[in-house]
Amino acid sequence: MPNPASPKAELEAIAQAVDRVATADAATLAELKTEYLGRKAGRLTGILRSISGLPPEERRAVGRRANELKQELEAAISSREAALESEVARPSDVDWTMPGRHRWRGAKHPVASVVDEICEIFRELGFTRVSGPEAETEDYNFTKLNIPLDHPAADEHDTFYLGPGVLLRTHTSPVQARTMERYEPPIRIVVPGVVYRRDPFDPSHSPMFEQIEGLVVDEGVSFVDFKAGIDYFVKHFFTADTAVRFRPSFFPFTEPSAEVDVQCQICHGSGCSTCQQTGWLEIMGCGMVHPAVFENCGIDSERYTGYAFGMGMERITMLRHGIPDIRLLFENDMRFLSQFVE
Ligand code: DAH
Repeated sequence: MPNPASPKAELEAIAQAVDRVATADAATLAELKTEYLGRKAGRLTGILRSISGLPPEERRAVGRRANELKQELEAAISSREAALESEVARPSDVDWTMPGRHRWRGAKHPVASVVDEICEIFRELGFTRVSGPEAETEDYNFTKLNIPLDHPAADEHDTFYLGPGVLLRTHTSPVQARTMERYEPPIRIVVPGVVYRRDPFDPSHSPMFEQIEGLVVDEGVSFVDFKAGIDYFVKHFFTADTAVRFRPSFFPFTEPSAEVDVQCQICHGSGCSTCQQTGWLEIMGCGMVHPAVFENCGIDSERYTGYAFGMGMERITMLRHGIPDIRLLFENDMRFLSQFVE
């Protein structure tokens, strides 16, 4: 503070600094040093410099007090510096081998982990991961997939309509049609994404859940390729000795259609409540792409064949971890979710 009105008052203010030094941390100490003793703008330095310009009767008293204070301050600062240094250096107080604290950066939801794991298995087989819109038209969600609009699945009781002809997709299958329209075969895609149905929450249903759709289109894709592809996935996702069976089924967009069962992961086939004593668990719907779907999407069904599949991610996550109720996956209860942090 340059040229204070009264050097005496300023000296008394500076005297207070001695007490502050005693408890200062390293950063504050450095600041105090500059503030009071700094060569250019230090408050005490300023006073010492101004002494020669004071009236003679003040000069002696101010000079003595200022020099006293300078010594006191310097002594206090160096003793505080020494104290701070020995605090840092005292080895017995610090366990340098202790692991650092980690900041919680969040973690993947168990369903997201399963989705990534499955996409990775199919990536090894040459599949590309793609996505499509959640708000769809009736055309892509039903018609192009050979599902007539009077099919029960298209009913307002099962589907969330957003407006005439527009809805929240009820499955990821419309992305099959979107991909076939846009790309030439060969096509190999997996499509993870959420889908919506008018189902109330219960232990095995949710109005919104995640699916993975798969589609392969190429020349000469046979039923054997189809079974081998699905078998590869099951053996890699579950265990190499997991038994798989194909059960004939019906979907409008595949012919023939099948449902895939795997040996129950809980009882290993002997029968339990999870598999309702059958020893088997259904994990997906699938089949060879129906020629009508190819035609609807501009693909020559004489030249190309293919297979498709669709599976529910919550269900597979539940099987993987033995989770008894789908609602646990939607409640975001950290006590539940933190069990799956990898
Ligand atoms: N879209 C069907 C569903 O949501 C699942 C499905 C079955 C997808 C057979 C397919 C398939 O691609 O071939 O229930």
